[in-house]
Amino acid sequence: MIQIAPSLLSADLFRLQEELEACQRGGADLLHLDVMDGHFVPNLSYGPSFVKAVRAHSSLPLDVHLMLDNPASFIESFAQAGADWISVHLEAGPHPDRLLQQIRAAGCQAGLALNPGTDIEALRWLTPHLDFVLLMSVNPGFGGQAFHKPVLEKIARLIALWKELGVEIPIQVDGGMDANWGPQCTQAGAEILVAGSHLFRQVDLAQAIGALRKACSA
Ligand code: DX5
Ligand code: ZN
Repeated sequence: MIQIAPSLLSADLFRLQEELEACQRGGADLLHLDVMDGHFVPNLSYGPSFVKAVRAHSSLPLDVHLMLDNPASFIESFAQAGADWISVHLEAGPHPDRLLQQIRAAGCQAGLALNPGTDIEALRWLTPHLDFVLLMSVNPGFGGQAFHKPVLEKIARLIALWKELGVEIPIQVDGGMDANWGPQCTQAGAEILVAGSHLFRQVDLAQAIGALRKACSA
């Protein structure tokens, strides 16, 4: 089962209600919200109040991607604001296992995100605390960047690691996603595709979500 997660970073905030309705109509499985602190990544976005506002206007599960130096201080606020899934970066600190447990304790699905240059080996030791893994296919911080092709091999290696360990943890891929790269990601074993600029730049967002799903399910 492929899941499509439109990234609201590319949404038109002045037409957010319409954009949220189109996501729902188009059959999106999750809404992906990118939280940036200006330190971990060289950009700023939004905080819990935005998540709360989206929660009030959409019934889709909210997938909050924390690109923060200090995620521990914010997990609880985002959970209270209505996040259903929360991912933190492996590169953000020395205690990813503690962060993952904190996310679950807050009642959310716990994900660990890896930058393009980060190896998957650490995941071997974290599987008991993981509900999903987010593999970045761009350097985090901005929408509209080109897909980093080596992530395809990373997906395949992670699937091999899961087989070795006897686990099946969903793999999410984020960045530069479109109807060309999406099918290659799902063929390699990814199940959840985050897509921002590819979806939101199309005239019919709902139709674009369906088309991406179709291309990736073939
Ligand atoms: C990048 C974010 C992505 C971004 C993807 O730091 O994590 O979620 O919104 O945007 P596109 O699909 O345009 O690369
Ligand atoms: Zn993201």
